[in-house]
Amino acid sequence: QTSAAGRMDRLLNWFGLSREQRRDMKILQGDLNLPGLGLKARDAETMAEEAQEIIHCASDTSFSARRREQVEKTNVLGLENLLHMVRKSPCRAFHLVSTAYVAGRQRGLCAEGIREVREFHNVYEETKFRAEKMAARHCADNGITLYVYRPSIVYGDSNTGRTTLFNALYYPIRTLHFFQKLYTRDILENQGKKAREMGVRLEKDGIMHLPVRIKSSDECGLNLIPVNYFVEAFMTLRRECPEGGVFHVVNPRSTTISLLADYTRRFFRLEGVRVVAPEEFIKQPRNGLEILFDNHIRYYSPYMQDKRIFEHSRTGAILSGQNVTCPEFSYKVFDACMHYAVQTDWGRLLLVK
Ligand SMILES: NC(=O)c1ccc[n+]([C@@H]2O[C@H](COP(=O)([O-])OP(=O)(O)OC[C@H]3O[C@@H](n4cnc5c(N)ncnc54)[C@H](OP(=O)(O)O)[C@@H]3O)[C@@H](O)[C@H]2O)c1
Repeated sequence: QTSAAGRMDRLLNWFGLSREQRRDMKILQGDLNLPGLGLKARDAETMAEEAQEIIHCASDTSFSARRREQVEKTNVLGLENLLHMVRKSPCRAFHLVSTAYVAGRQRGLCAEGIREVREFHNVYEETKFRAEKMAARHCADNGITLYVYRPSIVYGDSNTGRTTLFNALYYPIRTLHFFQKLYTRDILENQGKKAREMGVRLEKDGIMHLPVRIKSSDECGLNLIPVNYFVEAFMTLRRECPEGGVFHVVNPRSTTISLLADYTRRFFRLEGVRVVAPEEFIKQPRNGLEILFDNHIRYYSPYMQDKRIFEHSRTGAILSGQNVTCPEFSYKVFDACMHYAVQTDWGRLLLVK
């Protein structure tokens, strides 16, 4: 694997930062999973002498139960290793990038504070919640100001669509795009036997019929924020709230799965992809393509039926007071994001990481 400095270099090139802008940056290579973060003795000394403020955004973002041990190791033990180092440093402000989904299986309004939550959809939600509690205890005991940022689902830049990460929002759409490419090739190059078996056809005008029903309803939705909004919100809260706190960085309006399906059909020139109520699947069981689709997106399916609402009147007021508002998830924004996704083959052509 390329060194941390090499990876940072590629990432900063992607951001377009000049040599001058990187002049004061120091990169110390470490691993959260190791005691002392696996830092070289000299780097550990630098941290112990110079770290006045720490922004912790590293995390294992896997939802897979099979990876529980690794996810716990990075998100909980990794934080413990980091906090151990913090104790030796002059750090007085600790910024923890968490997630709004520490709300777990709660329903309705989810509080903007650290409350007891007992049930989670996956190991990621659970370990991020445990990390918040650990950071809160440590910071209270050591007189450190704690900022907990809880973004909802982050997608690319709302103006350019640029991102280096194509999970969450992108994943189900990418799966449909994969089906579209697979069956187009089958129809054009192999007489379309596989496509016929799945009920897939290519219409004369080039629109592909993919019979995929998605279980959801209009009371559910995804809470989506663009990465540029998260960055602006982060910088504003850091500047405006010297006392720290817990901040839901979310969209005041969720996006329904029906609207997302509509945007997806329009952008990729598809038909047949539609949102139906759960009862529909009792009347008519899933077809082969739906079984394949559901299997691909299984870790995301609870989010398709999400009714959680994130309290954000306090954070919303601070941000709007500084003219920081969440851009609307319009078709124009979706179009920019999907153009970038397809152009980079869902990140495969980026070679940033
Ligand atoms: N994306 C979202 O929708 C979303 C939503 C809510 C919250 N968040 C939170 O935002 C933060 C950033 O996530 P992301 O979406 O940008 O994911 P990401 O691209 O996977 O970033 C995770 C980072 O963690 C680092 N990391 C993982 N294991 C590490 C270890 N053992 N030691 C040191 N560094 C390690 C990775 O470093 P390398 O690059 O060196 O591997 C990577 O840069 C996370 O805390 C995540 O929980 C994200």
